[in-house]
Amino acid sequence: MSDKPNLDELFERRVTYPDVEPQLRLSRLVGLENQKTRLAKVVGLLVNPAGLAAWAKKHHPGAQMLLDIVLRRPPLVILAGDVGSGKTELAETIGDAVARSEGIDITLLPLSLSTRGQGRVGEMTQLLTAAFEHTVAEATRLKSASGRARGAVILLVDEADALAQSREAAQMHHEDRAGVNAFIRGIDRIANAKLPAAVLMCTNRLSALDPAVRRRAADVLSFARPDTEQRRFVLSSRLETVGFTGCHVDALVELTGPAPGRREYGFTFSDLTQRLLPAIVLDAYPGRAMDGARAVEIARAMAPTPPFKDGEFVGARP
Ligand SMILES: Nc1ncnc2c1ncn2[C@@H]1O[C@H](COP(=O)(O)OP(=O)(O)O)[C@@H](O)[C@H]1O
Ligand SMILES: [Mg+2]
Repeated sequence: MSDKPNLDELFERRVTYPDVEPQLRLSRLVGLENQKTRLAKVVGLLVNPAGLAAWAKKHHPGAQMLLDIVLRRPPLVILAGDVGSGKTELAETIGDAVARSEGIDITLLPLSLSTRGQGRVGEMTQLLTAAFEHTVAEATRLKSASGRARGAVILLVDEADALAQSREAAQMHHEDRAGVNAFIRGIDRIANAKLPAAVLMCTNRLSALDPAVRRRAADVLSFARPDTEQRRFVLSSRLETVGFTGCHVDALVELTGPAPGRREYGFTFSDLTQRLLPAIVLDAYPGRAMDGARAVEIARAMAPTPPFKDGEFVGARP
């Protein structure tokens, strides 16, 4: 790749908030209240750092040193954990909550490393450098002298496992190191210029993430598979309206959980919403109505997606 990547090559699709579609998707996420709140606060403070000073003036006058610690954090949040647990979904929709609470427009620039930058040497570094350059340019236009930004930009680096190489650091290919360095330079640039921009990074392998990247994160949010109550909520909220009885829902909740002795993990959120529930619907369509006993059979025959071998997140919730 000799030329700089153009905008269309760089970002998948630009999203602007507020918008009803991400608002609805955000509201449908189950069990992520903690992650939602923390992420919204970090992004909100990048847009409006004066908000923290106003809060301190009211409750803790004289706490400036404490505020500085919070405000000097780098504009990076890592979303880490199991597959199909809502990392991408939350990263793609949180901008809506902040846009509404701060009363501004926010733009999401989604960069996926899984489908890009795996090719020629130098490509990932070039992609990251160009993505940060573009983010900085947009955020600079939105910064205002009076403190509160006119808007904000979220750069989403999804499927960032390409940057998650620390375990193999000793043998790390020169190109991988260069990608990590480009990423770190980009974060530092946004931080030093105090721009209204946040970088969200999603990865399935936190423990393999480069320590220099990890150290820069203002927050690391962890994501896990649904527990019993969360599976019950996802399943019953979708199935009780079609007339499934409690005992069939109970059986589905049980079958989609860990199976002692056989497997230590249960279904992921996406196993439930994108595999099991559609399978139940399509099994009945178009000839007959859905029924609970048949749904239980379908669940019994289905296996959950195996976890990434990261250890750290299997079964753990913040
Ligand atoms: N916490 C959740 N609550 C409800 N649905 C979820 C949740 N997490 C994931 N899903 C479902 O799974 C799909 C895939 O989630 P995604 O965010 O892409 O997972 P990943 O963590 O691998 O990025 C979502 O579109 C949604 O339908
Ligand atoms: Mg994802």
